[in-house]
Amino acid sequence: MRRVFRLEPCVRYTVGMLPNDLNQMLRGYMESRAALTALELDVFNAIGLGSTAGALARKLSTDARATEMLLNALVAMGLLTKQREMFCNTPATVRYFMKGSEDDARPGLLHVANLWHRWSTLTECVRAGTSVGSPGSDQPSDEWTRNFIAAMHYNASERATLVAEAVGTEGVERLLDVGGGSAAYSLAFARASDKLHATVLDQAKVVLIAQRHIREADLTGRIDTRIGDLRCDRLGGDFNLVLVSAICHMLSPEENRDLLRRCFEALAPRGRVVIQDFILESDKTAPKQAALFALNMLVGTPAGNTYSADEYEAWLREVGFEDVSRVSLPAPTSLIIGSRQDMKMPRNPR
Ligand SMILES: C[S@@+](CC[C@H](N)C(=O)[O-])C[C@H]1O[C@@H](n2cnc3c(N)ncnc32)[C@H](O)[C@@H]1O
Repeated sequence: MRRVFRLEPCVRYTVGMLPNDLNQMLRGYMESRAALTALELDVFNAIGLGSTAGALARKLSTDARATEMLLNALVAMGLLTKQREMFCNTPATVRYFMKGSEDDARPGLLHVANLWHRWSTLTECVRAGTSVGSPGSDQPSDEWTRNFIAAMHYNASERATLVAEAVGTEGVERLLDVGGGSAAYSLAFARASDKLHATVLDQAKVVLIAQRHIREADLTGRIDTRIGDLRCDRLGGDFNLVLVSAICHMLSPEENRDLLRRCFEALAPRGRVVIQDFILESDKTAPKQAALFALNMLVGTPAGNTYSADEYEAWLREVGFEDVSRVSLPAPTSLIIGSRQDMKMPRNPR
């Protein structure tokens, strides 16, 4: 249910005081920033089984007074405990932020910390209508890319199996994973069917990361990689399935039409394109995560956005897809699927 900040006539608010929930919303960045700084400094791993602020400051080469202030705030937020002068991890920080834990999310969360810098340019981006970048952000560093792909891989760890199940693999022998990142989705599809061969298309430095995941999964014979540019390359032909997962939000409507047209060309008759993304309702104000993700794209890309199911359906039909359907998945993303029914040429070929 969406909140609307409306002053109820029967409630008397003290003059000059904001309602609590509005106040908390405006100051929410404080907790977020404190937690992200702790992750950037790797506070939770450095605390290990317990540490005083002074010992931690020496270990992290940080200022002792400031370190104690940060640790006290983390205790107040429920991310640490404090007994006398000893700070300790909680079960949640051991599980999610510590090396060696199966659920360690820190590498991916460092991507969230990177996004912080972009979000701080939001006001300028709204004035300019596009990403204004932050100093030195034109070419992402190797570390930025590693964190980004780690975040994508973490997000996909459970979702990829759900997607493979929802889409099905019957009749699918060749899958193209456009902008396939860590290869998480190709791995899930390859595990779902022995007959399926996947190709992960991505940028050179990401392909190296995908190759590592494919090797570790022992699926080198079933998944190959291709360095390419999804914004302009021809995508090949005779694929039974083209997966476009978390890609369309990086692109403008024109770029999406062009990409989907090339996906159509890459499919064999009766092949399907599967788009996974944040999908907005028609008025674009819900779900909240999708509406906020549009801003993430505003601050991070020249022309990215999040789009509604109606927009996806219109683009797919425009380039020749039929039987367009939507498959709901647990939040925050869902699927839009279109099929290439026959040997027809794509509409509006370039
Ligand atoms: C948001 S990630 C999605 C990764 C994966 N499909 C998933 O759902 O987990 C976007 C991917 O697109 C890739 N990408 C971005 N621009 C690209 C381009 N011009 N050509 C090829 N890949 C690109 C990125 O490297 C990244 O792996």
